[in-house]
Amino acid sequence: LPPGVETIDPIAISSKEIVKLVESIRDDMLNTEHPVLQKAATYFFQSAADGGKKVRPMLVLLLSRALSDHIATAHQPVTSSSLLPPALEWQRPELPDLNRRLAEVTEIFHTASLLHDDVLDDADQRRNLPALHTQFGAKIAVLAGDFLLAKACVTLAKMGDLRTVQAMSTVLEHLVLGEVMQIRGPKADGQKSRLRVYLKKNFYKTASLMALSCKSVGFLGEYPDELIDVAYRFGKHAGMAFQLVDDALDYEGTAQHLGKPSMADLRSGLATAPVLFAAQEHTELIPMIDRKFKGNGDVERAIEIVFRSDGIERTKELAILHAERAMDALLELNPSPSRDALIQLAYRVVARTR
Ligand code: FPP
Ligand code: MG
Ligand code: MG
Repeated sequence: LPPGVETIDPIAISSKEIVKLVESIRDDMLNTEHPVLQKAATYFFQSAADGGKKVRPMLVLLLSRALSDHIATAHQPVTSSSLLPPALEWQRPELPDLNRRLAEVTEIFHTASLLHDDVLDDADQRRNLPALHTQFGAKIAVLAGDFLLAKACVTLAKMGDLRTVQAMSTVLEHLVLGEVMQIRGPKADGQKSRLRVYLKKNFYKTASLMALSCKSVGFLGEYPDELIDVAYRFGKHAGMAFQLVDDALDYEGTAQHLGKPSMADLRSGLATAPVLFAAQEHTELIPMIDRKFKGNGDVERAIEIVFRSDGIERTKELAILHAERAMDALLELNPSPSRDALIQLAYRVVARTR
């Protein structure tokens, strides 16, 4: 980490904005005349503490600030310490409403995809709460997800920036594409290696939302193409790192809580990076991957091979590589508390244990 960065807490620096974001989503954006729909749609927006880590809106809000500070200091490069101290950063009034709306849209897209995902995965827990479909049934959960998307699209349209509408709509296509690739495998594409297909799926499923919402920050600020590219690269690599770490943790969870049937990915037939890397040395994994670990004893045998291999380590190394690329993009910006908070966030993405 560059000097000074370790003292900046991205969560603390954006906490006030995140509280406002949740209130705005709950009280303004998701209003509807039907009480059941209202309740279902706002289920994960009761308070800022509910509903996950808010990584995505944090990226958007911090990047908005980092890009505007970059421009503001373009002719007089300064150090972080000569800007407002991090604790006061969010008392600055001028973060444009458009950027706040984009952060809301980003969080709503993500939440909508989770409502649908928990139905598809038949998962009963989410964000320390019972999954929505366990409370309201699958039909209402799917419709609530659709409702969130509809409301977010109205907000997006009202923002009035066509490039942003196009980028964020493409995210929705990518989320669906990633999910279908995960269920059905790639389209007839026999040439590509499994690892490449997996990484592409990760881009669609996870990195696209981060990449294209970051890029939209660039569009909304009408920044030059080079800066829009910095924003995109940062979001994309942060997203790729995030999903790789997720996939490594799916295995390591079991190592820590031995005896508990974890290993959700493998058990549901999914081959993620740890097993794909392991299969490069241990080719007996390949037929098991192809039959989605449905053979007798496949799951146990595959787990055992993965732990004997360097698959988890190589997954983390690849995550670190992506996190470094995300940081490299940010280092093209002039220093500011928000830039440094984003560098810290990229670091935490790979250092996290849950
Ligand atoms: C979580 O993955 C799910 C996603 C990242 C995206 C899910 C996308 C869809 C269900 C397509 C529908 C899209 C929209 C826009 C409504 P996971 O199941 O691997 O992770 P988990 O452990 O968090 O459940
Ligand atoms: Mg899931
Ligand atoms: Mg899923």
